[in-house]
Amino acid sequence: MDWNIQRAEALHCELEVPGDKSISHRSVILASLSSGSCVVRGFLPGEDCLSTMEAFRALGVQIERPNPTTLIIHGTGGRFHAPERDIDCGNSGTTMRLLSGILSAQPFTSRLFGDASLSNRPMRRVIDPLGQMGAHITAEGAQGRPPLRIDGGPLHAIDYVSPVASAQVKSAVLLAGLFAEGTTSVTESHLSRDHTERMLEYFGVALKRDGLRVSVNGGERPQPRDFRVPGDVSSAAFWLVAAAASPGAHLRVNKVGLNPSRTGILGVLARMGARVREFEESNFGEPFGSIDVVGTQLKATRIEGKEIPNVIDEIPILAVAAALAEGTTVISDAAELRVKETDRLAAVASHLKAMGVAVVEKPDGLEITGGGLRGATLESFGDHRIAMAFAIAGLFAEGQTTITGTDCVNTSYPGFYDLLRRVMAQKAGSEPFQWRLEAAAEPTEAQS
Ligand code: S3P
Repeated sequence: MDWNIQRAEALHCELEVPGDKSISHRSVILASLSSGSCVVRGFLPGEDCLSTMEAFRALGVQIERPNPTTLIIHGTGGRFHAPERDIDCGNSGTTMRLLSGILSAQPFTSRLFGDASLSNRPMRRVIDPLGQMGAHITAEGAQGRPPLRIDGGPLHAIDYVSPVASAQVKSAVLLAGLFAEGTTSVTESHLSRDHTERMLEYFGVALKRDGLRVSVNGGERPQPRDFRVPGDVSSAAFWLVAAAASPGAHLRVNKVGLNPSRTGILGVLARMGARVREFEESNFGEPFGSIDVVGTQLKATRIEGKEIPNVIDEIPILAVAAALAEGTTVISDAAELRVKETDRLAAVASHLKAMGVAVVEKPDGLEITGGGLRGATLESFGDHRIAMAFAIAGLFAEGQTTITGTDCVNTSYPGFYDLLRRVMAQKAGSEPFQWRLEAAAEPTEAQS
């Protein structure tokens, strides 16, 4: 489906976003590893997380799904069955990399494959450390690319210093560490999202954190726990930027995750001049609450160094913010973007240029000089965040913007376009509207 986008007149609303993608994956994984039944509420019914759910079903875990966002998972204590078929990870790097850690320790052979985008993503970053633990993983694609054949067996602990600040690498090694002989540690150069660590602790696993070093002991298993997934701040990011860059706009996002290893975008938007406030309301091991944004004429900023892992998924939409800001924004140390669902630095640079923005593409970043945007026809390149970031750019552009190949948005944000249409329909000076997730999709605790 193609989306046709017109300039928005106003943005004045209060909304909720679907469940966090990273946390939804991990809730399935940790509940499956536990030896009891866990109820997960607020699960993201996006294709990536459904790939993880189906993978664990294929490994013999019984998972009920009474409605799209609730799972009842009957954990097996970490003992899985050999899958009857190859496991399809779809578009999801998180599914493939985290699962590799667990399957490395199972007494059977499994094979993981994915779609064209995932088939092009680097897997040596997990094959190397898991190999050091004794795993036998063969990348069947060129240069360490998928499919992966995993001949599982006994593992031993390692003390791993990761060359990339990647939560997927850290998590794959820590999950393998639960099955390894001894204490497994991972050290990263900058903190990447720490959901695995927080959720392991919430599920009762003893974990040691020492600065950027995290350790787990072999033989530990998560205890069964019920869990509520907060809204995804990376999905909220699209609306946060739409509001921050519109003088006079006012947005409140409710029930959204506020894990400090994910909320770097709030600091960036504040530096760019927007008024941003957080209200932490409750905590299920993962902090969550509300974010309030008042829009303004944004100013350029620098995004680099240890801030990058914290905004890794938000760079496409922050690049759009930069295109709407006064001055030249510099994004550096972000070469990792070249190995995401698509080469996001190249995609952002070409789309911003098509919209009339001055951009310099560097090997590890972008220099973007703000100015007016003009409408253009832009491909998603099969990348959900490129599609959504440029749909938001279209709200600010002169003339019509068309985004093609938008089905990929279902990997992380089903319902995005419904809200986008509601935003486009809002008239200047009209009352704020409220956008709650459908009651059917998000039952109250009492109902479920
Ligand atoms: C994720 C980690 C990040 C992020 C991805 C989800 C996770 O990848 O880009 O969307 O759930 O662990 P890296 O860890 O490879 O940076």
